[in-house]
Amino acid sequence: MNPFFQIEKTTESKARAGIISTDHGKIETPIFMPVGTVASVKTVHQSELREDIKAQIILGNTYHLYLRPAMEVMQNAGGLHKFMNWDLPILTDSGGFQVFSLSDSRKMTEEGVKFKSHIDGSYHFISPEKSMEIQRQIGADIFMAFDECTAYPSTYTQAKLSMEMTHRWLKRCIKWCEENPEIYAHRQHLFPIVQGSTFSDLRKISAEFISEQNCDGNAIGGLSVGEPEDEMYRITDEVTDILPKEKPRYLMGVGTPWNILESIGLGIDMMDCVLPTRNARNGMLFTWKGVINIKNEKWKNDFSPLDEFGKSYVDRDYSKAYVRHLFVSREYLGKQIASVHNLAFYLDLVKTARQHILAGDFYQWKNSVLPELKNRL
Ligand code: GUN
Repeated sequence: MNPFFQIEKTTESKARAGIISTDHGKIETPIFMPVGTVASVKTVHQSELREDIKAQIILGNTYHLYLRPAMEVMQNAGGLHKFMNWDLPILTDSGGFQVFSLSDSRKMTEEGVKFKSHIDGSYHFISPEKSMEIQRQIGADIFMAFDECTAYPSTYTQAKLSMEMTHRWLKRCIKWCEENPEIYAHRQHLFPIVQGSTFSDLRKISAEFISEQNCDGNAIGGLSVGEPEDEMYRITDEVTDILPKEKPRYLMGVGTPWNILESIGLGIDMMDCVLPTRNARNGMLFTWKGVINIKNEKWKNDFSPLDEFGKSYVDRDYSKAYVRHLFVSREYLGKQIASVHNLAFYLDLVKTARQHILAGDFYQWKNSVLPELKNRL
């Protein structure tokens, strides 16, 4: 028996329902993980995450937390759980991906990445070993290997060289972790990341290499970076055919509600994305009936509940007309309400998917709800 991950039900095809057990509690999969980059899921209180959104695990980011508040504060706080008063599981991304998307300038070598802070312009260096050290200090339950997210599009040669370096970096991450155990009183589980861009043979090599390392779970990176959606599904399908069945599989940075359901159908257990929170702050609401732009004139006199099928209190307590008014008036409360709504919807989406996997009718159910999710209301 695998104490970290137990599969409760596999379907006739690839979707499965399972339970991940960490020292901060259990996670029912498939799961969506709200992104809390700088020790805050933007505009949302920890109590709302737990009680209204029913989040079971949230994300933090090595790059951001290393720059601010920096590791001295993190260690003095006793780690991220205590610092932000969140005692359920946390996952941290390893930093490389954020260095590439945020820092003003960076230079990558075999040793690691030198970069300029997007906050104050100071220079820093993160290597695989440094990323592991920072993630030990943050103390997330699940932490990611330091990788290079290959840009899209890339030539075959670029993708191959990048993937090979990610593999060498993974070996360094594993070695460092073996020599440097946890510093807090809970276990940390390292997940390596499959790369290889959209090239099937590179993805196969990477998935096999990653599987051989025998870590507690595995991730797929380098997707949802500009490639067409059907390419993302094709690669996910090919990689989940290779990654071990008995370990959780995490698809990084995905995605829309329909991406989430399709990925679950391809054997993915964990997903994260800024989309529900970022789009909420712009007035875009995801619902079972489709996507709403709450700033639209058409909601001006619509006093019906924000979302009659929504499960969170904001869906019942506030009308569309009221939330539209908050957005038009640029009130912070609008962003807060929309963020709680979208995250509660995403958690409801994966919970309902799980129920259908357990009931044995996931694919039929998915195909029946997909068209509605994409409606523009
Ligand atoms: N987030 C989204 N994609 C990636 C990736 O390829 N690598 C890492 N580390 N994080 C990601």
